[in-house]
Amino acid sequence: MARASSEPSAGRRRPQKRLRAGFRMEIAGDSYYHSALLETGTRRHHCRVRNHVRPIMNTHTNFRRGAAALLLVMISGMALAQGDAETGRELGYTCLGCHGIEGQRNAYPSFRVPRLGGQNREYLEVALNAYRAGTRPHPTMQAQAGSLTDDNIADLLAWLTSFGEAEDTATAEQVAGVEAAQICVTCHGADGAAVQPAPPVLAGQHADYLVHALRQYKDGTRSGNVMAAFAANLSAADMELIASFYAAQEGVTTLNE
Ligand code: HEC
Ligand code: HEC
Repeated sequence: MARASSEPSAGRRRPQKRLRAGFRMEIAGDSYYHSALLETGTRRHHCRVRNHVRPIMNTHTNFRRGAAALLLVMISGMALAQGDAETGRELGYTCLGCHGIEGQRNAYPSFRVPRLGGQNREYLEVALNAYRAGTRPHPTMQAQAGSLTDDNIADLLAWLTSFGEAEDTATAEQVAGVEAAQICVTCHGADGAAVQPAPPVLAGQHADYLVHALRQYKDGTRSGNVMAAFAANLSAADMELIASFYAAQEGVTTLNE
């Protein structure tokens, strides 16, 4: 994406997020999660639309027309559903003080701050909302997110996703040597490309941050999602092995302005 100019971008703000919410409500009866996937308009999102809309159209033939029409509405609205990357870049200047410095550490406990470049949009949004709501504890990130409006978050997401898109590409074969990671690649790997809601990319993430996150899922500090079940049985040694496996793959990157 082109580098943002330093001109103020007031007046360029577009309507956002509302459309996504509407779409989710109409599809909810089929318990599929299309909406977040359809938002960003990236290549990966197009793939996922195929993966998830086809099953609906095949199994609920009488919904075929409705589903197709909704999809068209959603696709035509995608450009409007974005935040403004330039505004996000201005808002995100302070984020770079940690997420833009290679190897920057969190002090207590000590771990490197997570890489955000290439992380998937849906997960970034979940994370920022959780810090803002106070359900994901971390004093600095709660302070950073606490005053953000929905529009601020949409703009930050537009900026953050402008750093590209990484994917977990681990396969069951690659992970064969790490017994405890077999289950993980069904979501955090090539096999998980269509899992809903989109799991975060682990490939390329700092190993010490991954271990920190796994400990928090295991002890319940980070709760309210599927990960508690998968972290529950991991030993400290398993966590280290899995973390080094994912950290060694190409994937997310430090934000680099
Ligand atoms: C003082 C350092 C610091 C600053 C400034 C900062 N962050 Fe963070 N950020 C962290 C740390 C440390 C974590 C991991 C916290 C945890 O354990 O949940 C984190 C986590 C995150 C996560 C979750 C990543 C993941 O993989 O789960 C997101 C998203 C994020 N920050 C976005 C931002 C944005 C956007 C800003 C600017 C508005 C920002 N951060 C500013 C240190 C910082
Ligand atoms: C059913 C799908 C699924 C499986 C299987 C799964 N995960 Fe997750 N994982 C998720 C989702 C969804 C999240 C986001 C949760 C949240 O909002 O905090 C996540 C989050 C994570 C995170 C936090 C990443 C970050 O940036 O903060 C780590 C680390 C993680 N998973 C590791 C694992 C490991 C290791 C395994 C195997 C033992 C595993 N996961 C199995 C879906 C899954």
